[in-house]
Amino acid sequence: MSDIVEKGKKRLGWAREHMKVIERVKKEISERGDLENKNISMALHVEAKTGILALSLREVGANVKMASCNPLSTDDSVAEALRKEYDMDVFAKRGQSDEEYYENLNLTLEHDPDVIIDDGGDLISLIHTERKDLIQGIAGGAEETTTGIVRLRAMEKEGILRFPVLSVNDAHMKHLFDNRYGTGQSTIAGILKATNLQLSGKNFLVCGYGWCGRGIAIRAKGMGANVMVSEVDPVKAVEANMDGFEVLPAKEGIKKADFVVTATGCKGVVHEKELENAKDGCILANSGHFNNEISVQKLKDMSVSTSRVRDDVRGYEMKDGRKLYLLSQGRLVNLAAGQGHPAEIMDMSFSLQMMAAEYVVKEDLEPGVHNIPREIDEKVALTKLKSDDIRIDKLREEQKDYLGNWKEGT
Ligand code: ADE
Repeated sequence: MSDIVEKGKKRLGWAREHMKVIERVKKEISERGDLENKNISMALHVEAKTGILALSLREVGANVKMASCNPLSTDDSVAEALRKEYDMDVFAKRGQSDEEYYENLNLTLEHDPDVIIDDGGDLISLIHTERKDLIQGIAGGAEETTTGIVRLRAMEKEGILRFPVLSVNDAHMKHLFDNRYGTGQSTIAGILKATNLQLSGKNFLVCGYGWCGRGIAIRAKGMGANVMVSEVDPVKAVEANMDGFEVLPAKEGIKKADFVVTATGCKGVVHEKELENAKDGCILANSGHFNNEISVQKLKDMSVSTSRVRDDVRGYEMKDGRKLYLLSQGRLVNLAAGQGHPAEIMDMSFSLQMMAAEYVVKEDLEPGVHNIPREIDEKVALTKLKSDDIRIDKLREEQKDYLGNWKEGT
């Protein structure tokens, strides 16, 4: 076995050891048999935990073809181990060009899929533009992330979404943990790995206070940083303020920020004005799905020279002599510089993905974006508690009666 395959195999083994929920969910799905012989095409971040999802789907009888949903997030050792040791169709390479990226997405579709599992919406978008011939045969899909759901809802609004897609992202067992604690931890891990700098005592600006932004802000605060938050949503801004963070516009926060992290799902968050104001030495990172939250082209245009200063750090010298540092080309830092969310978190997200795949082949759903049924959400929560050996209380009968009775107040 080559060194790279051995490395990937070990990473897969380590992930599997820490993914107890999917292990249990898999057994039950296997007994029901609904995914047997189903063709599944997936576009996800190809790394160890995703490998366990792909292998689990295969273990319940599905045929899987997988590509990456981002040009810079593939763990090549895992991709190679999946290909060589598990004979899995994996079409992904870290640093692939745009052209290769789309070629690889297309390759996942060669087996006429029954189910699509997507992260960010590129695969479903591709099917609705260039591979409409496949739509008829697709029972449905499942989408992993906020950005993908925003795109799918736009497609639904325009009346062009032609099959049902379950929003895994909106399940409680997904966004409360994956987006918040997963992104919180993996973003900090990515930044630390890329920079090897100290956070304690530094000024840290988080742009966006959705579930991901909240997670990043709490973890940065936990590391001793002085955290500021910028927002466009007034409710989230009040929340950030009451959570103890200074709230201010990004173009002001960046004047004193040593670190800036974008997690908004929108483009041009760190744009011309912000770049003009950025503090000398400021480190810019993005944790949103696409690489457009920091305006990288503007940064290039506004600089006089640039150089690679570390593996995942590029320095830009600005006309006035300031130096700004961009991590991982503005691509999602937690996967491009780090190794993605912790295994225990992806365990829950990918258990939902497996159950969503089963649900769309079993139920005859209308085209459109659908929420994950509450029973699936609760099933993942109960399985998680069970696998962590955590017990909870149960309501007694008179308590259930009380909760259903509007007359009894005291
Ligand atoms: N690993 C696999 N998919 C991931 C995702 N969407 N975010 C972070 N880590 C991941």
